[in-house]
Amino acid sequence: MSTQPIGIFDSGVGGTSIYKEIDALLPHENTIYLADSANAPYGNKTAEEILQLSIKNTELLLSYNCKLIVVACNTATTNAIKTLRETYNVPFIGIEPAIKPASLNSKTKAIGILATKGTLASKLFHDTTNLYRNDVQVIEQVGEGIVPLIESGKTLSEEMRILLKAYLKPMIDANIDYLVLGCTHYPFLLPLLIQLLPKQVKIIDSGEAVARQTKSILKKQNLLNTETISAKHLFYSNGDPKVMQALLKQPYSVNFLKF
Ligand code: DGL
Repeated sequence: MSTQPIGIFDSGVGGTSIYKEIDALLPHENTIYLADSANAPYGNKTAEEILQLSIKNTELLLSYNCKLIVVACNTATTNAIKTLRETYNVPFIGIEPAIKPASLNSKTKAIGILATKGTLASKLFHDTTNLYRNDVQVIEQVGEGIVPLIESGKTLSEEMRILLKAYLKPMIDANIDYLVLGCTHYPFLLPLLIQLLPKQVKIIDSGEAVARQTKSILKKQNLLNTETISAKHLFYSNGDPKVMQALLKQPYSVNFLKF
């Protein structure tokens, strides 16, 4: 059981930012990654559509014998993880925007969150935000158009810079000191975000926390891979594998798979 792979899925290439954190913390674990790029973006779909796509991805990963599934997508986590956990008999690790650490540490009492419409509209996001926001002002911004640009290989383009500049303006005007990246695609925007935000604004995401949680659950359930031979990593995309390959910047090849 312990040598079985960890399954990871996202609406596209975004979850590879989570894959990297998992591989850094758990270098002996085998992994299978599914990029459902043909159906991206998930962020503008209904909760039911996001659930059906998440079920499709989960069942494919289970057919590859995965021992644990990482839902490397905030949109899928906030809309589908509850049902996935109730339906399937493997542990699921999800990702949610890091509202808690941002509001706990904010000195200006204003934080920004950039995420998809699907995440910001979800009940889980609202419940978590209300639980941890305290007296902090949370400026929500839908990242409309960002995921399609990343999925078409235009991550650091001029078009992206113009979009981000507009999205960040209300946050800068409100004097935020934390920007929460609430979508796993967004860490790829870091070079642009650093240029556009005032120096004192810290940018945070939940990638490392997801890797730590994955390790903790594997350990608790006796599922850690004890073999020390080099791990196998498979990447499948039902979109253009070249876009993912370019973002991955690792010696792995991304294969096309229809799913
Ligand atoms: N990576 C997904 C997330 O974390 C992107 C959602 C989308 O496809 O719109 O929310």
